[in-house]
Amino acid sequence: NNTMKLSDLAMEMGVKAPQLVKVLMQNGVMANMNTDLDFDTIALIVPEFKWEAENVFKTADARAEETAFGDLEAESIIRPPVVTVMGHVDHGKTSLLDAIRNADVAAGEAGGITQHIGAYSVKLEDGSLITFLDTPGHEAFTAMRARGANATDIAIIVVAADDGMMPQTQEAVNHAKAAGVPMIVAVNKMDKPGANPDRIKQQLTELQIVPEEWGGNTIFAEVSALKKTGIKELLEQVKLLAEVAELKANPKRSGTGLVIEAKMEKGKGPVATLLVKDGTVEVGQYIVAGHMKGRVRSLTNDKGERVQSVGPGLPVEVLGLEAVPAAGDKFDIVKDEATAVEVSTLRKEQAEKSSATPNAKMSLEDIFSKV
Ligand code: GTP
Ligand code: MG
Repeated sequence: NNTMKLSDLAMEMGVKAPQLVKVLMQNGVMANMNTDLDFDTIALIVPEFKWEAENVFKTADARAEETAFGDLEAESIIRPPVVTVMGHVDHGKTSLLDAIRNADVAAGEAGGITQHIGAYSVKLEDGSLITFLDTPGHEAFTAMRARGANATDIAIIVVAADDGMMPQTQEAVNHAKAAGVPMIVAVNKMDKPGANPDRIKQQLTELQIVPEEWGGNTIFAEVSALKKTGIKELLEQVKLLAEVAELKANPKRSGTGLVIEAKMEKGKGPVATLLVKDGTVEVGQYIVAGHMKGRVRSLTNDKGERVQSVGPGLPVEVLGLEAVPAAGDKFDIVKDEATAVEVSTLRKEQAEKSSATPNAKMSLEDIFSKV
């Protein structure tokens, strides 16, 4: 995600911008003074000027990736989609998440005790799973996106049928659009006398959100979180969207993903809720979350059960980190303690560097070393 403007690059390298434009064109890249160049593009052209590109920003993540282990070539399988619920204040986000949790067939099996771990997965009747991020949608979404970490595959935009489109509805739609994730509109509070779903459909067309039945491509699901109606249909639509998106992961490689939330707990130490995006996390493995390292001491799933391992698309609470990472941080399982130290040190250095350059644009020192 880090880019550098062509004119800045030229200035820092001490060459004239048109020279850079010319070399880019010779390499088949059309550019002008204001073009934002990514690392790969920069790396392609700088040898012409006797520079060598070295992407320091990428190093920690690249190192974690290089040291990934397990069966890296294993066939990938469909993983559960990760869904965020967003919408205006009081439109029923929390109630909807509660109603969805109630629809979980597995929750019934486990005796209905669902632990609050910031994310949970719901098992549908056909056995398929959907993971929900149970965090105040906007903040979590924004924090993660600011770090370039897209935790979510699908967004549910909740709109109260008796209230209609509100500022935060628009904001939620913009978040989902910016993240490029497909969305479903849940028209909530359908039990209320003043419920008018058509008015909401009309209003949302102003944001280019057009319902399928009007020739667009957005699903509108009419629900009542209070009366628990339409929930199954909503989940069915989420499942269909996920199938189209073909979300796949390799459960046989070492785990990697994101920190959803983390805190210090008395008697437990740092407790982090992780979302495994790829691979599998197992008890006993070395882990780096953000720049905090550790060894997985225990794993607890969203039903409050101790587990030995957890696969892709699922949330899990982990104990064993030496300090509390930040929400939105990337985590990686690494092969040994030495690698954990190495990756965490690299991440720490990078964190210090990028806080020194708050706009997160690359600087020359970040990407180059003079040959
Ligand atoms: P914030 O977290 O404050 O943004 O609100 P929220 O979007 O989580 O809404 P919440 O679920 O707290 O619901 C707000 C109010 O609407 C509560 O009083 C709910 O009981 C009520 N409510 C939620 N869903 C429904 C519904 O389907 N029908 C009716 N009649 N009331 C609902
Ligand atoms: Mg709420």
